[in-house]
Amino acid sequence: MATNDLEATARELVAPGKGILAADESMPTIEKRFTSIGLESTEEHRRAYRDMLFTTPGLGDHISGVILFDETIRQGTKDGTPFTEVLEKQGIIPGIKVDAGAKDLALFPGEKVTEGLDGLRKRLAEYHELGARFAKWRAVITIDESNGLPTDGCIRANAHAMARYAGLCQEAGLVPIVEPETLMDGSHAIQAHFDATLRTLQATFEELFDHRIALEGTLLKTNMVLSGKEAAEQADDETVADMTLTCLRATVPPAVPGIVFLSGGQGDVEATERLDVMNKRGPHPWALSFSYGRALQAPALKAWAGKEENAEAGQRALALRAKLNGAARDGAYSSDMEAEAA
Ligand code: 13P
Repeated sequence: MATNDLEATARELVAPGKGILAADESMPTIEKRFTSIGLESTEEHRRAYRDMLFTTPGLGDHISGVILFDETIRQGTKDGTPFTEVLEKQGIIPGIKVDAGAKDLALFPGEKVTEGLDGLRKRLAEYHELGARFAKWRAVITIDESNGLPTDGCIRANAHAMARYAGLCQEAGLVPIVEPETLMDGSHAIQAHFDATLRTLQATFEELFDHRIALEGTLLKTNMVLSGKEAAEQADDETVADMTLTCLRATVPPAVPGIVFLSGGQGDVEATERLDVMNKRGPHPWALSFSYGRALQAPALKAWAGKEENAEAGQRALALRAKLNGAARDGAYSSDMEAEAA
């Protein structure tokens, strides 16, 4: 696919008022989410849950793309319509998670490297055939100051793998979402998260450049710069916005059409507020949008609770978070909108 087609798709994914729904939970992750509502993770339960999410009326008003999991891209609604078709009818672009998960990095205790490059060219061709137009690969970077983590070795190994993945995607006509996530787990101060995120993004773009990746047809998905989840002192939203923007400006070339944030364990309202604060400070060289998993799904999962009769309540909860994040993506959110909607 020509670079301008990839660029058109990338720009569509970060269109004003819209963002991405990450619904690509792997088997262990969806099991964890279902356990929280006392539901067993069977194939039919996973199908029913995604059916509820994807058939939400008006979902396409604020959701530009949905990231699917391998099982999900092959599934459909109860009446047999493929999910890819359901999404396309709403003007939503189907995407696919293609990495095989973060595994222990040999000789680097406490650190991970994401696997999944073997056979990827063939898998991408199949996903394109199934309707996917973009892909996602997540790398995980851990902070542990007392053990000197993250190491340069771990950051470089992950950056290299992401660049190899991005090249294969562009060859196959899929927009790569490159997702280095520097985790917020730990009790470190926000400065440590800033430093680790900065090193990670710098190495990522060096590798993308070396691998001839067309940045115009690539999206970055990454974390906001935050205080460690267990840190006694928690930075306020203004500081989070300041440090995140400083970090991104120093590392992300303006050729990249958009940066989409993961929510990474932030509360759903927090994730909306912080995105809004950053967009109120725009314009920025790139669109700043969302690709939330938990921050979009958590209230919907809770309202649905695994019961068919709650499907509409689940859909209302998802539609609300999508709408409010769509506003935050434009810097047009206010906390009154939460109360009004409730
Ligand atoms: P969260 O928003 O729940 O972090 O999930 C986003 C995602 O896709 C992580 O890879």
